[in-house]
Amino acid sequence: MLGRRRANAGADAPAIRVTGLEKVYKMGVERVRALDGVDLQINTGEFVAIMGASGSGKSTLMNMLGCLDRPSAGEYELAGIPTRKMSATRLAKVRNERIGFIFQTFELLPRASAIQNVMLPMIYSKKHLFGARGRAKAALRKVGLGDRMRHRPNQLSGGQRQRVAVARALVNDPAILLADEPTGNLDSQTTTEIIGLFTDLHNDGQTIVIVTHEEEVAGYAERIVRLRDGKVFSDMPTSEDPLHTAYLQSIASTAARRANAEAQGAPA
Ligand SMILES: Nc1ncnc2c1ncn2[C@@H]1O[C@H](COP(=O)(O)OP(=O)(O)OP(=O)(O)O)[C@@H](O)[C@H]1O
Ligand SMILES: [Mg+2]
Repeated sequence: MLGRRRANAGADAPAIRVTGLEKVYKMGVERVRALDGVDLQINTGEFVAIMGASGSGKSTLMNMLGCLDRPSAGEYELAGIPTRKMSATRLAKVRNERIGFIFQTFELLPRASAIQNVMLPMIYSKKHLFGARGRAKAALRKVGLGDRMRHRPNQLSGGQRQRVAVARALVNDPAILLADEPTGNLDSQTTTEIIGLFTDLHNDGQTIVIVTHEEEVAGYAERIVRLRDGKVFSDMPTSEDPLHTAYLQSIASTAARRANAEAQGAPA
């Protein structure tokens, strides 16, 4: 029902390709160069984490990838199709039909039930209107909320709200799922649940790009792209990323120290 294979995607083109991407925000006379020449390719089926200090340009990049905003310079191709010359209407259509976006703050309509929230993208796109309810139900079941369809956001836990947002992002069967700090407002157990859901989706073939501050979360992705001052300063498989490896070593040595202290009967 929410199958991943899409006939209309550019045959062998990467899901996303950006070249020389720049974004300059103008604030009166001041200019902020949030992205300063980003080259990035995301292949179909990849699960990529984007990391970097606060202000390094992660959300700015995600907003460009999600067609929520346009770059000041550079190229962005979605499944091989350049987006630069698309009209605002066309871009909005592409965004709605091809991209699922998940935000840190869930961004659900407070007065609408889970199922109504999930039906929204289909109503906007006028796609799948016939059978919209059935698809929304299927998406909610897929994220484990089959028994919460009529609950409003304030009747759901944080993790459940984020699951509704994931269902809403999936319901139009997007080519790419983009998530900007989706676990930023969740406790550690709920974070593990949500990231487990992303892993299941990835195993089903979904292309996923996630922004996170947490190495633990990034560890679920197969590749980590690190931004610094609006530039990519490292881009490699998670298993080869030196910062991630150092993090794993620090966890292992803390665990070993604790086990050692416990063996000697002293608190760690
Ligand atoms: N709408 C805007 N107008 C002006 N400047 C902006 C705007 N949005 C972001 N910036 C600036 O661009 C830079 C990058 O911001 P961005 O939100 O992309 O960072 P980030 O890496 O997502 O940070 P965080 O981890 O705190 O979310 C920052 O210096 C920020 O102040
Ligand atoms: Mg951000």
